[in-house]
This record gives sequence, C-alpha cells and structure tokens, in this order.
Amino acid sequence: MLRDFTCGELRIGDINKQVWLCGWVQKTRKLGGATFIDLRDRYGITQLVFHSDDENSASLGKEGFTREMVLRVYGKVIERESKNKNLPTGEIEIKITDVQILNHALTPPFTIEDETDGGDELRMKYRYLDLRRNVVRKNLELRHRLALETRNYLDKLKFIEVETPVLIKSTPEGARDFVVPSRMHQGQFYALPQSPQTFKQLLMVSGFDRYYQIVKCFRDEDLRADRQPEFTQIDCEMSFVEQEDIIQTFEGLVKHLFKTVLNVDITNVPRMTYADAMKFYGNDKPDTRFEMRFIDLSPALSQGKGAEALSKVEGEDLVRGKNFKVFDEAEIVVGICAKGAGEYTRKQLDELTEFVKRPQIGATGLVYAKCNLDGTIKSSVDKFYKEEDLKKWASAFNAQPGDLILILAGEIEKTRKALSELRLEMGTRLGLRDKPARRSDGTEAEGGSKFSCLWVIDFPLLEWNEGDPNLLASLAGRWHAKHHPFTSPKPEDINLLSSNPGTVRANAYDIVINGVEIGGGSIRIHNKELQAQMFDVLGFTKEEAQKQFGFLMNAFEFGAPPHGGIAFGFDRLCSLFGGSDGIRDFIAFPKNNAGKDMMIDSPSEISEEQLKELGIKF
Ligand code: AMO
Repeated sequence: MLRDFTCGELRIGDINKQVWLCGWVQKTRKLGGATFIDLRDRYGITQLVFHSDDENSASLGKEGFTREMVLRVYGKVIERESKNKNLPTGEIEIKITDVQILNHALTPPFTIEDETDGGDELRMKYRYLDLRRNVVRKNLELRHRLALETRNYLDKLKFIEVETPVLIKSTPEGARDFVVPSRMHQGQFYALPQSPQTFKQLLMVSGFDRYYQIVKCFRDEDLRADRQPEFTQIDCEMSFVEQEDIIQTFEGLVKHLFKTVLNVDITNVPRMTYADAMKFYGNDKPDTRFEMRFIDLSPALSQGKGAEALSKVEGEDLVRGKNFKVFDEAEIVVGICAKGAGEYTRKQLDELTEFVKRPQIGATGLVYAKCNLDGTIKSSVDKFYKEEDLKKWASAFNAQPGDLILILAGEIEKTRKALSELRLEMGTRLGLRDKPARRSDGTEAEGGSKFSCLWVIDFPLLEWNEGDPNLLASLAGRWHAKHHPFTSPKPEDINLLSSNPGTVRANAYDIVINGVEIGGGSIRIHNKELQAQMFDVLGFTKEEAQKQFGFLMNAFEFGAPPHGGIAFGFDRLCSLFGGSDGIRDFIAFPKNNAGKDMMIDSPSEISEEQLKELGIKF
C-alpha cells in the first residue's frame, strides 16, 4: 500500500506516529512561515503542515501545491494548536517531511466542496469530479448500504439472486422499448428489458421458488425527477404465495432497511384500497405524512360515479340549488381544509388560484372559504352562499377558526387530480412535507415520524388507453393492463372480464412512501387459459399473443406454481432515504433530463460502416 492510513482516520491517540498518507489537495493556505494543506480522500480530510524555515521541510513547497493534485506525503502526527471541532481529524495535523507528487491536476471547472459553484450541466459533464464531492459520494455510499442490507435480508429468507438477460425481445405492451439491432440477423432487433418480469416468472416455473435481483431496467419514456431511462429495481418473485405473503415479506424488507440503514422504526404500514386513495386523495400514491383528506360536498351529484358522501352532514347536498352555476353543473364539488391557513392574504389566495389554473393542473377556478379567528366565515362565493351555508361547509370539513377551505368543481376524475396537486402544494406550503432529517454523516435520520409508508391495494386490472404518450400509438383506444398483462384479476371479479372489464380489480399492490411509488407488484396469472383471456381483453389476436408471449403461455403448461412478486424502484428508495426528490444524485453516472449522458456524449451517431454492418443503412 502507498499509504498507512486514510485521510479520515487519524485521531489524537495517534500522536507521534510516523505515517504515509495519500489524497487530493483540497486547498492550501500560508500563514506566516507555515503552509497548510487539506488533503482529501473518500474518508475525510487531514491537515498537513510544513514550515519554510524548518530545515527538514524547507524544500517541500518549491513546486507549489495546486488544487486536486494527487500527493503521497510522509510525516509525524502532531496535536494541532487550533483545533477544528467540525472535523473528525480536527485535533491533529501531520507535520510533513516528505512529499511525492503522484499526479498533477488541471484546475477543476467547479469547486469540489459541499456547496459548489458548478451548475447542473457542468457537473454532469465532469461527473467524475462531482463524485469527489462529499454529498454525492455519500449518496452512493447510502446506495451501497441499501443494496447490501437488501441482500442480507433476502438471503436470510432463502431468496437467491439470479441474473436474467439484457438482450431480450421487444413487446408492444408497457412503455416503449430501447432496441438493439442485430448484426447477425439483419432487420431484427433485441430489446432491453423494461423489467425481468417474464424471466422471473419462468424461474418460478423452474422451481426457484424465491428469486431476487438488483437489476438494471430500461424504459424509453418521458423523463422526470424520479424517472431515468435506465434505472435499477430490486426485483423479487415467490412461489406458493398469496398477496398477504408478499405484503408481509416485503413490508419486512422495508422495515429492515429503515432500521439498519437509518435507525428508524417503521411500526405501521397501513393499507388503503385504490378506490379510497382516489376518493380521499385523488391520487394512487397519496402522501400520507399529512391528512388533509378530500371532502365531497356534492355526494348526491357524484354518487354512483365512484364518490360517496364523506362529510358529517352525510347525504346532504351543501352546494347545489343556490344559483351558483359552476357548482350546480359540476359532476363533483370537492375540497380540502388547510389547517392554519385561514390568515392567507388576497395575494396568497390569488397565487393558489393561478396554481390550479395552470395547464398542467387544469382547474377552471378555485373557491375558498376563510374561517376567521372571530368565528365568521368569508368566502369567494358570498354572493351565492349565506353565512349559515358556509357554517355547514365548515362543519363538513371540521374546519376551525383559522383554517382555510379550498374547493374545486368539475368533472370527477379531473377535479380530483387537480385537488390532489393543490393538496400537495398546501402540504408543502404548510411545511407538512419536510424532508426527513439527515445527520451529518449522511446516513441516519432523527426519527420515524417523517416517513409515512402505505400499501395501496386492489388496483383496477385494466385502464382505458385514450392515447398515452408513453405508449405506442397503435395501443390507443384499447384496454391497457394497469400493472402488466401477467397480473391476476381478483377471483371474484373474473366473471366481469368480458362484460365490464373496467370494474375488474387486480391482485396488485404498490408500496408508497411519502407520496412516492417506491414499488409495485402483483399475484400473477399461472393458468394458460386465463392468460389467453387476458391477452384477448387487451386486444391481442391469438396469433399475436402466441408470437409475443407464447414462450410464457407454453411454460405454464409444464406445471407453473401459483406465484407473485414485487419490484422496488431502487433509485427512488435511495433518494427517499437520502432525503431528496430527484434520483439522479443517487446514480453514479446518470442521464440528464433530455436522456443524454453529457460526460460520454451519448446517445451519439455511429459510423456509416457500422450502420451498414447492422443492415440499417444500405
Ligand atoms: P413497475 O413498472 O411498477 O413494476 O416498476 C417497479 C418500480 O420501479 C420504479 N420505476 C422507475 N424508477 C426510475 N425510473 C423509471 N423510469 C422507473 N419506472 C419504474 C418505481 C416502480 O414502482 N415487473 C413489475 C414488478 C412486478 O410486478 O413484480 C414492474 O416493473 O418505483
């Protein structure tokens, strides 16, 4: 080894040791005749010192030490005169007597410190330098811990990790595939897996029983902060299980990870049906760190359309028949109560109105009622509703003086979706969605209260595809599997598959943490006929189904056990544990928002020669 210790290791107890250290120059400063160098490596920073008037070290600084130069130094550990309490090595320094410059470095394009002056694009282009920064490196260390603890937990339960292929077959179902042209079979293409779904099911047919894999998946879909074109799943599958077994096993994994990595006890993971999630939160991944549930003020209107009376004044219509056309004509009138926001100014209320009217949110307007501290209520629709009407609203919302009621009206699905966005916005504004605390070592949070885990169950099996931009255009105007086509319907709903497909519920579940879909899975169909029926509902002809998925349906004829599984979005899990919204900083070499790797400049053109060889250009 070129070094005896790392730059994060030496303490006061090591005084007088003669040591070799290696690292990068973080910074240098001169103070009188003394030169101080902060030497950095993965483990920390150690201060080096030499004096120009000291005959043992007088020659050391001749060349000058510049930022990010790689050094090997030799010297004696001594006690510092002025100690730095913020640094684990802050009580000592190394009085160096020998320096070897292992390599020179150009001036980095941004400062390699926790607070850097480098913009996003620049840091992505020089990602290897960005990774030298503490904050980014700690994210990857956290990722490593999570992977390790995942393996520990699953290994104890006899899961085995099996690798599945990366060059597979394109299927039109699901998101768009990335495809790879075949040189040997010109005009033919491999696809990169969107997930190892079919392979893990085949492993169950093979009797592997308990499989997992921490695995790269590829999806050519629109990118967002929590989406990358290539991302990692903790992919799992089990045989001879029911939904409850999967939920128990993987709730165990989540608890294990929180405990071992963050020292947080997750005691309770409640369950909510998809129908309730939509009704109370307008969202299939509700952020349950805070309540602010939806209250439907128009139960009579929306009944029979998936909505029910939720308020104390159950059944009574609190909004219709007062000549307010917007409410009279709406399919649903639904709102939330923002506790303690009753003091909002006109300007803040206007901001909220602008917020809901943004095209991404799509509401036509916002009605509010301020519950004043003196007990009066002032609404934006006072023209139509008397104080006694508003009092009834307040009671429906259980609103107290000082609270703010916010109401949207319109078509059921759209209005709930918009209110869901408004609820999240209010949660953010009121500080109810604050990031979990992270200790300075980057790994431990302070308590469990800031993490709210939830199982969302009983998803619909199918959804009508009006023209999802993430799907192939040819799939529009058809039923689409909400999870994937291998998900089993609830046995009691199977008879509705042909008559009323939209109402069939699936044995499918998602785990949602702090409003993020962290994982999802299902119990699979293991019966060839049912699988064929499913493909039929999805609009595949028998021939198409056989061509695309014949291998799976054929395998089911050789003794497929009942099976099911789940996959966690590993990057999302890491960013959640690291207290961040974006997954990019938890991936060593991520793509930017346009799906490009700025460092290696990819995707990029290939040569005519390569194109010809692949048979793509003649
Ligand atoms: P699903 O498609 O729900 O299920 O994916 C599982 C989890 O993967 C994460 N995820 C993503 N993370 C980052 N970038 C993306 N583009 C991205 N897409 C998905 C999410 C999601 O919950 N084979 C099934 C699982 C199963 O049924 O067992 C599947 O892939 O956190």
